[in-house]
Amino acid sequence: HEYTAPGELGDPAVRGAEVAEPGAVTIVVPTYNESANIRQLLHQITESVPTRLPCEVVFVDDSTDDTPEVIQEAAKDCPFPVTLLHREEPVGGLGGAVVEGMKAAGSDWIVVMDGDCQHPPSLVPELVATGERAHAGLVVASRYIKGGSRAGLAGSYRVAVSRGATWLTKSLFPRRLHGISDPMSGFFAIRRSDITADALKPLGYKILLELAVRSRPRQVTEVPFVFQDRFAGESKSSAQEGFRFLRHLIGLRTASPVARMVGFGLIGASGFLPNLVGLWALMALGLHYVPAEILANQLGVAWNFVLVEHLLFRDRRRHRNRWDRAGRFALLANADLVLRIPLIALFVDRLGMGALSATALALVTTFVLRFVGTEALVYLP
Ligand code: GDD
Ligand code: MN
Repeated sequence: HEYTAPGELGDPAVRGAEVAEPGAVTIVVPTYNESANIRQLLHQITESVPTRLPCEVVFVDDSTDDTPEVIQEAAKDCPFPVTLLHREEPVGGLGGAVVEGMKAAGSDWIVVMDGDCQHPPSLVPELVATGERAHAGLVVASRYIKGGSRAGLAGSYRVAVSRGATWLTKSLFPRRLHGISDPMSGFFAIRRSDITADALKPLGYKILLELAVRSRPRQVTEVPFVFQDRFAGESKSSAQEGFRFLRHLIGLRTASPVARMVGFGLIGASGFLPNLVGLWALMALGLHYVPAEILANQLGVAWNFVLVEHLLFRDRRRHRNRWDRAGRFALLANADLVLRIPLIALFVDRLGMGALSATALALVTTFVLRFVGTEALVYLP
């Protein structure tokens, strides 16, 4: 699935040796059905990147249309090497594609930009030069600093969503995103040596966020840019992509064991809602409160399981099958309930604690045990 033109630079090692020299740049472009934009983009890059800045372009394509053929044709007229990586399995969406491209890159600097001409290629030399000058690992092209704008973001709805998302993201990662005004930008330059490719778990559009949080480049600077109108076609973003972004945020935020435990607790607390609703419904149906309690509890457990599966341990589900995980999860949750009363009795009788503090201690104890058990027995690392 790899095609290189016009230079015979197919082998990344060989290509690396030929292209890489300080200041050289690999432009990584993710594409999904962008056939009408390819020629224009390559033309703009040719016009923008001076010959003294050695450059190669790597397209990482997940298209279902004729974009790959268009890229191969257009590449023949390019003065620099163009590589096409076509993926049959588009894991990770846009972000996954960018990481593939970064792995194939042969230069010290990698510039990531969209394939629809919304990111002006005229800025590529400036991004790299700024990074060299500032000894930075990451240079973000930002719409939110003086001189930048989001002219091409169509409609007040998208502007509001973009603002809200930026605010939420910055509040969740105040330290990692310090100095980055536009963590949602898809246009940036990064030093290859600052990328920890194996530690990345890209999920959808926000690859810059992924890199800033997980690779932690040594120093960050920004350059303003004006987000252009699309040259042709329409945005590939969707409501589904919005949910993917929220999952991405939760995955990043709960990467550390402590944060994961907090997330586990929050999910557990949210389980009270279906539990209570279930209890109410079952008793309204005339069930005695003891069996109703037991059944309603299982509803809470099921709710917790679904959330834990999809939000907290998404990337750790490969070791067991779903029913095995569900069974173990339910067993741990019910053990928690069964253990609580004797534990409270023990704290009161043996340690002489008051009922309230004994209950609190028992809750914390069983919670920690359940979390540790879930990590070790259900979702092996
Ligand atoms: N390989 C691959 N796989 N490429 C994809 C995929 C995918 O699943 N989805 C989208 N792309 C490509 C598109 O073909 C385009 O080249 C680029 O990624 C950006 O996609 P758009 O659909 O044009 O995104 P946008 O304009 O709505 O969003 C852009 O601006 C946002 C800021 O408002 C992107 O740069 C976002 O990352 C950025 O946050
Ligand atoms: Mn776009």
